[in-house]
Amino acid sequence: MGKRVLRPGGMEMTRRILDAAKPGAGDRIVEFGPGVGKTAEILLASQPERYWGVDVRDNADSPMERVIVGRDGAELVQADARDTGLPDGAATLVVGEAMLTMQTDQGKRAIMAEAYRVLAPGGRYAIHEMGFKPQVAEESGTGAQKDLSQTIKVGAKPLKIANWAAMLESVGFRVEYTSSNKMALLEVRRVIADEGILGFLRIITNVARNPAARKRILAMRATFKANQEYLCAVGLVAVKPE
Ligand SMILES: C[S@@+](CC[C@H](N)C(=O)[O-])C[C@H]1O[C@@H](n2cnc3c(N)ncnc32)[C@H](O)[C@@H]1O
Repeated sequence: MGKRVLRPGGMEMTRRILDAAKPGAGDRIVEFGPGVGKTAEILLASQPERYWGVDVRDNADSPMERVIVGRDGAELVQADARDTGLPDGAATLVVGEAMLTMQTDQGKRAIMAEAYRVLAPGGRYAIHEMGFKPQVAEESGTGAQKDLSQTIKVGAKPLKIANWAAMLESVGFRVEYTSSNKMALLEVRRVIADEGILGFLRIITNVARNPAARKRILAMRATFKANQEYLCAVGLVAVKPE
């Protein structure tokens, strides 16, 4: 539908985790699930030595491919983030947004372990995902999770920030930065902040022309709204100890 920024905490949370992880010249960056390449553009603007975008999707002739075309040292790898095929210690920074929440706990841990393996000691891993607010009791959280999975049509399993941190630590990371903000994935204010006014108009025109998509998007938005007392967006940056 033209929505380019599909992340729970919007560009605001992307900026926070990147401010904490500080991509820069000399970094060798792996991005898990780069999607249409919005974060990739920011990462490449920091002039890293290398950039690999690892996505299960074939990105041939996609907006993502256009982001890296002609960039020395940048390439796309079609692989699962659980098993990227990249060498041990190849990266100094791994970034992954909106791609762990839909995995089972086992899947989340496998992707975190792969980030750990491809990072050199001292390397950083920045994530941006969906979370349950700290005060949410497990039983109400479970209801929100079921609602989410039914409307998004993929399993969604957000975690409390403390549980995201504990899982990162269970594969060897040391968590250095945590942040949360409001989950506002489909709110008008956030859509305009992320996509600009022209982007917003493009999206509503597309949605108006497609009744089936409109129904699904409104259902998703209603689910997010109904569960907003439970849900938030989370960002964490962890380090592989030296
Ligand atoms: C919701 S989109 C998020 C895209 C982008 N990170 C962003 O924040 O806008 C999820 C992306 O992750 C990719 N993805 C999902 N599971 C993956 C996996 N196990 N390994 C690699 N990529 C994956 C999808 O193909 C998609 O491009």
